Amino acid sequence: MDMRPVLVALCLLLVSPITGHWWASGSQLVMDPMVICKKTRRLKGRLAEICKKEPTVLKEITKGMSLGTKECQHQFRNRRWNCTTTRRSLRKILMKDTRETGFVNAITTAGVTFAVTRACSTGELLECSCDKAVKRKGNPRMPPEHPAIGSMADGDWEWGGCGDNIQFGYSMSKAFMDAPHRKRRDMKMLVKLHNNDAGRLAIRNFMRTECKCHGLSGSCTLRTCWRKMPPFRDVGNRLKERFDGAAKVIPSNDGRSFIPEGPTIKPPSRLDLVYSEDSPDFCKPNRKTGSLGTQGRHCNATSPGVEGCELLCCGRGFDTYHTKEKVNCQCRFKWCCEVTCSTCLEKKAISICR
Ligand SMILES: *[C@@H]1O[C@H](CO)[C@@H](O)[C@H](O)[C@H]1NC(C)=O
Ligand SMILES: *[C@@H]1O[C@H](CO)[C@@H](O)[C@H](O)[C@H]1NC(C)=O
Repeated sequence: MDMRPVLVALCLLLVSPITGHWWASGSQLVMDPMVICKKTRRLKGRLAEICKKEPTVLKEITKGMSLGTKECQHQFRNRRWNCTTTRRSLRKILMKDTRETGFVNAITTAGVTFAVTRACSTGELLECSCDKAVKRKGNPRMPPEHPAIGSMADGDWEWGGCGDNIQFGYSMSKAFMDAPHRKRRDMKMLVKLHNNDAGRLAIRNFMRTECKCHGLSGSCTLRTCWRKMPPFRDVGNRLKERFDGAAKVIPSNDGRSFIPEGPTIKPPSRLDLVYSEDSPDFCKPNRKTGSLGTQGRHCNATSPGVEGCELLCCGRGFDTYHTKEKVNCQCRFKWCCEVTCSTCLEKKAISICR
């Protein structure tokens, strides 16, 4: 008998005081940091410390996983597998080593990095603060990206303010997301660690510089600049591009690393996503692969892309329903300052996979 769901439920009951309301949302089960803590209970080191002594960090990790999951669902909303958190699907996806597995791992790790880093900046974590490091003045390698009003020569600015502490977020995410797997170094683990890192780097390597002007009436005689994370949507878009171009890899001869499957394919960089198993087509429900099938999914009858009915419905065909939808129309601006609209009925066609 499979005891795992029981164990997970038990674990969640035990830890609910720490995670607050999170245990209540059933869909979070698969991606719950408490499961990681529970699995590695007998481990020592940094991970055990976080699990036992740093509940506020753990809370940010939970938020980060949820942020990653939401972004995954946004990026995959039109795909056959739509990053559903339904346990019977996501659990299977995470046990495999397909492109989808790689994306889920990367975006989840990125979410954790992002949430922990942000919590440092907002002062929610005692363990860290924002990045106040005084860097070399006017570092020419990192010029401000936003030219000030009334242009000024590079160099008339300095680091200051409260930058995002990406170092802390990076290492905390590494300690938590990578640590449970250090013992076993099989192919799946190598791939997972690589994709986790690609997720973290999708933030760390794309930090921005933001500046603020000082001086009399906006004269901007001095600027203060700091480093800031990109918006998480940008991180999601970037990782989705890496998903589209993900490289299939095979174990190398020494078994301690991987190489591209085809000899002519260039080795993946640290930023690339990799995978070792081909994905199922996700057309029909399948318990083994975690596919839920696409019957009943909304599709776009005129699009040639993945969201188009032809591809999304796997050639089974689709039904189109005509409905009317209430929309705002004939909006007028009334001086001052009000906008009045009427309600109109607009024809709308909805296509659904057979
Ligand atoms: C995701 O797909 C499943 C089954 O394929 C469907 O039940 C669910 O409504 C979809 N979710 C969204 C947000 O479209
Ligand atoms: C459907 O696809 C077409 C062509 O790609 C696009 O112009 C249209 O906006 C899409 N419709 C919806 C509802 O997304």
